[in-house]
Amino acid sequence: MLDHRARMDSSKKEKVEQILSEFQLREGDLKKVMRRMQKEMDRGLKLETHQEASVKMLPTYVRSTPEGSEVGDFLSLDLGGTNFRVMLVKVGEGEEGQWTVKTKHQMYSIPEDAMTGTAEMLFDYISECISDFLDKHQMKHKKLPLGFTFSFPVRHEDIDKGILLNWTKGFKASGAEGNNVVGLLRDAIKRRGDFEMDVVAMVNDTVATMISCYYEDHRCEVGMIVGTGCNACYMEEMQNVELVEGNEGRMCVNTEWGAFGASGELDEFLLEYDRVVDEMSLNPGQQLYEKIIGGKYMGEIARLVLLKLVNENLLFNGEASEKLKTKGSFETRFISQVESDPGDRKQIYNILTSFGLLPSAIDCDIVRMVCERVSTRAAQMCSAGLAGVINRMRDSRSEEILKITVGVDGSVYKLHPSFKDRFHATVRQLTPGCDITFLQSEEGSGRGAALISAVACKMACMISQ
Ligand code: GLC
Repeated sequence: MLDHRARMDSSKKEKVEQILSEFQLREGDLKKVMRRMQKEMDRGLKLETHQEASVKMLPTYVRSTPEGSEVGDFLSLDLGGTNFRVMLVKVGEGEEGQWTVKTKHQMYSIPEDAMTGTAEMLFDYISECISDFLDKHQMKHKKLPLGFTFSFPVRHEDIDKGILLNWTKGFKASGAEGNNVVGLLRDAIKRRGDFEMDVVAMVNDTVATMISCYYEDHRCEVGMIVGTGCNACYMEEMQNVELVEGNEGRMCVNTEWGAFGASGELDEFLLEYDRVVDEMSLNPGQQLYEKIIGGKYMGEIARLVLLKLVNENLLFNGEASEKLKTKGSFETRFISQVESDPGDRKQIYNILTSFGLLPSAIDCDIVRMVCERVSTRAAQMCSAGLAGVINRMRDSRSEEILKITVGVDGSVYKLHPSFKDRFHATVRQLTPGCDITFLQSEEGSGRGAALISAVACKMACMISQ
């Protein structure tokens, strides 16, 4: 009897393995993705091909040679995930350069109707939060310089001016796309009329992360986020940034690589689950690379795989619970938790029972296999992108060994138990001749925005003198 059971279990696992084998990527596949990514990056940088390129390579007006920096208190805003954050950051000057301390902060959750209503509603909500923060800390009377970390694709005209190209990550507020984001914020603050702010800089979260890590390690010339969404920025030679005049020095380019795949570059790798996730999203056909990697989507991919296994009678006795059948119910944090289980299956069992399921030991093992396959593919896909960026930098700098630091932030990178290790190993495998350090950023969005605002303030002073 026992023998029979064991044989059943192992044949079940084999069948599951077979279904999951689609998630496997070989080194050749990753190199293919990397080369295609590099090609799109190149097209994004060039004036002639920029319009049609899927990877937009947006200039940020953050340059390699800052003209010094102000010191003092800065307000940082951070919009781009499920929460909106306000922070007060002190920037000072020491022997080793600038330092920062986050002195006060507050997190506000963004109501669904503010995310998907009108731009006015969203920015009114943001300025209401700022007003609340200033009230709490009795700072309403101060007109502080403000740095805005706005984590969406923005076409900048300067460090404090840029239009939103399109929303990503489940935001959809109407009337924002095509408009100057800083203008929307300033108008909302004016509409309230109970405080004043001097908006001096707007940056992407990748850029803020890079800047915050740069102050710790001057080799940090790449910033990357693997959180709700996935994206990277890096310092490019000005002569290659054709959208901005001038050839001297370097400028930080926000790749917006999450959009990769919109011209079919990933078609051969997309699975039935990816296609469903895409079709059910607010932006079908867009951000396909991000939808393989980002925390907004990874859990949903895993849920669809689980349902497939249930339908094939390989999981939960062929019966799913109502909760498991509900779109979005299997959040990406569950993938992290399942893979953090030390081996006694308790954690996995608890998660599954909270879904109204009654899992057997083998069910728990299969769920873990699913999570591992989905998150490993994400880590590998992400590695191909970063390897593309780093190999490009190595080629353009013609250094024997490129020594470089990558500043990283985001919930998937930080909270998943093995994403980092798998990711680092694959990036290194794909980047011969490069010596890469990964630096985890702490409070990167807030500190980075404050640091760049301090530079922007200094420049504004110099211009007005
Ligand atoms: C999305 C946004 C991008 C951001 C990333 C990480 O890809 O378009 O601007 O950097 O998410 O938050």
